[in-house]
Amino acid sequence: MANIKEFMTKDHRHCDDTFAAMEQKANSEGLAAAKELYNKMAEEMEHHFQMEERVIFPAFEEKTGMTEGPTQMMRMEHTQMRSLIKEIGEALDEDNKDRFFGLTETMMIMVQQHNMKEEQMLYTMVQQHLSGDEEQIMMMMESMITQ
Ligand SMILES: [Fe+2]
Ligand SMILES: [Fe+2]
Repeated sequence: MANIKEFMTKDHRHCDDTFAAMEQKANSEGLAAAKELYNKMAEEMEHHFQMEERVIFPAFEEKTGMTEGPTQMMRMEHTQMRSLIKEIGEALDEDNKDRFFGLTETMMIMVQQHNMKEEQMLYTMVQQHLSGDEEQIMMMMESMITQ
């Protein structure tokens, strides 16, 4: 069984791939054609955020007592990314190419920086503090349905 860090890092890559596929589709076939991949990307990102916000972050906060630290910062960045995802959807509906590609550029940079912080710092700390609860955390994430 993969550990939490490996599992979540792999999910970052998976979300990145869907995002790249959406951009590519928009580029080659136009914005309307990218709608389905947009929905898939938005769903996958939301699911990933919720695995962190509903399972990993609370477990980490409970174990370490660190409630104002890295998890708070990551939550704030999730909020920013959620609003970007929403705006990208609006650009698609307006068929506004300039807005769409401007927003996806911003989003890509933000996701890259966010994921790097999690992979290099937060997931590593999670791994250190929660290795004893790993099985339970993995089970909770696997059985989670996105709200
Ligand atoms: Fe995150
Ligand atoms: Fe993440």
